[in-house]
Amino acid sequence: MSNDKIKIAFVCLGNICRSPMAEFIFKKLIEDKNISNKFIVDSKAVSHEEEGNPVYPPARAELEKHGITCNGKFAVTLQPSDSEKYDYFIGMDESNLTRMKRILGSSAHNKIYKLMSFTGTSADVSDPWYTNRFDVAYRDIYNGCVAFLEYLINLKIF
Ligand code: 4NP
Repeated sequence: MSNDKIKIAFVCLGNICRSPMAEFIFKKLIEDKNISNKFIVDSKAVSHEEEGNPVYPPARAELEKHGITCNGKFAVTLQPSDSEKYDYFIGMDESNLTRMKRILGSSAHNKIYKLMSFTGTSADVSDPWYTNRFDVAYRDIYNGCVAFLEYLINLKIF
């Protein structure tokens, strides 16, 4: 058992749709279990494209449908210096993972996972930027976050 908080960064391309959805869904899951104090949870982009922008309105609306708010979130870009600041970097698709490895460097490669891998598949999260299906993305991300939290609980590290 460690007293250190578990530090998690969810990562996608722009940090305005999928990774903020993961951040705020995961935060809701740990709030509901009264274990928020065990975690630091953030989300980041592998591109500078949307830096400083708020969560994309349809992603925000999908979260709100489920009683989850994402107020105060603005897109930030993953930095090489983040490699030491987090224990887990959770990407949404294969392309995210490739870019995360490039940004973070080889010392952090063992901290990088794809969200849906925790559900036992090699699938990417359905990308609402292309599908416009924020409900389908929400379902994938929710299932991934539940499975990731289960994985962490089973490690018995907190
Ligand atoms: P996200 O969605 O990576 O889930 O935040 C996207 C946001 C912006 C772009 C693509 C995907 N873009 O091409 O600017």
